[in-house]
Amino acid sequence: MAADSGNRIGYLVLAAGKGTRMHSAGPKVLQRVLGKPLLGFVLDALTDIPPDQVWSVIGHGADQVRATFADPKYQFILQEEQRGTGHALRIAWPTLEASGVGYVCVVNGDTPFVPRAAIDHLLAACITAKAGMGILTLELDNPTGYGRIVRAQDGTIRDIVEEKDCDAQTRDTHEINAGIYVFSVPRCRHLLARLDDNNAQGEFYITQLVRLCVQDHMLIHGVSFAHACGMLGINTPQELIGIEETLRAEIVRHWIEAGVRIRQPDLVTLGPDAVLEPGVQITGPTEVYGHTYITGGAVIESHCWISNATLHACQVRSFSHIESAQVGPDAVIGPFARLRPGTIIEDQAKVGNFVEVKNSVLHRGAKASHLSYLGDSEIGADANIGAGTITCNYDGHRKHRTTIGNGAFIGSNTALVAPVDIGEQAVVGAGSVVTKAVPPKALCIARARQTNLQGWKPKSSST
Ligand code: UD1
Ligand code: CA
Repeated sequence: MAADSGNRIGYLVLAAGKGTRMHSAGPKVLQRVLGKPLLGFVLDALTDIPPDQVWSVIGHGADQVRATFADPKYQFILQEEQRGTGHALRIAWPTLEASGVGYVCVVNGDTPFVPRAAIDHLLAACITAKAGMGILTLELDNPTGYGRIVRAQDGTIRDIVEEKDCDAQTRDTHEINAGIYVFSVPRCRHLLARLDDNNAQGEFYITQLVRLCVQDHMLIHGVSFAHACGMLGINTPQELIGIEETLRAEIVRHWIEAGVRIRQPDLVTLGPDAVLEPGVQITGPTEVYGHTYITGGAVIESHCWISNATLHACQVRSFSHIESAQVGPDAVIGPFARLRPGTIIEDQAKVGNFVEVKNSVLHRGAKASHLSYLGDSEIGADANIGAGTITCNYDGHRKHRTTIGNGAFIGSNTALVAPVDIGEQAVVGAGSVVTKAVPPKALCIARARQTNLQGWKPKSSST
């Protein structure tokens, strides 16, 4: 059996549960706090650990979890039937043993703000004490819903009793199990087979391992925190919204202190991975999510929704929606603009009201000021896209590209039927339906000629 040296540590995140109390169809660990899935917070807290030492047990909605965390660095273990936290550990155990880790730290995946320092502290204490098992405990004013810690007179931990299995006296205990554990892999091995589901929930509890360790006279090391310090699990929508609001306010305060001008800060939402340089201005209620980066000098007006975008010193006017797009300096977006994924708006370009841009590049100084759809297109520098221009990029089966050369002028209400190329400095007459390439500098008129009938009188009505 491997030496119990503990020099290689494994990290196991329990993330297979459904989260029935969330009243939501998807897996609980994909519930989002400020746009970020719960599991993402836990995995980010372990980001400096070599990825081959971190595993997540997934089960309910496993495909969705894998799709959300599609990076091959993430390792998943499938718990097909979710029969409890102890069962999840049992399923993961062969993988842990095969990896040769001496200790494993187990973290509930629904505890997004678990401080890394607390995990490190528990691990170090267990390794120093050569404990068989370690537990983080918290003193809570309101322990409802948590497993209660039972201690012997000498203070040693004897048991964890789940709320549903508590007698009145145990229920009165305010010290609870935070859901963060350390186990010696070689020494706890034989205990797993002894887990049973004889309890109020008919599940295999990881917490039963405490009793089993005690029976086998193994040392259990407890590290107690007087405050929750972010270690509360999220089990209900109320808990999620409460924690989200606390984090939101903290993040907004952080960026204001860093030199970002955020007006009406109570109405601004900034996700945990958004980065704003000093000198950015947010002028009112707005939401910024994902890995968004905004450089100094950018002005974001009220009522915008922005996710995974890179915005240089541009102006984003009110009611704009920007997702996975880049905007260059001195560009103007909106009001009421929509930038969809894959869009690049270069410097000084303009995307005006009711313009939707998808998977397209607007080169420097290009303008689409009103009422357009530009999809799968490349718009040359200084080109002008008239109001009502539509790139007809979809033939019902496939998407096709439109390219528009530098300095081209597209008249209002033009349909560009892709695939189609418009040459540099070409002009397209208003109302055209363009189905063929237009050479550079050419004038294209592709519409029915106007007919004027002289002396036309409507017939008088017969009634
Ligand atoms: C658990 C603890 C409780 C502790 C609390 C702290 C048990 C039996 N109880 O209760 O003592 O106070 O956490 O937050 O462990 N999961 C799986 N597979 C399963 C079941 C659950 O991976 O079969 C995962 C869930 O996705 C979740 C975590 O384990 O991330 C904890 O499960 P949950 O049902 O939330 O346990 P609690 O009732 O909160
Ligand atoms: Ca929980």
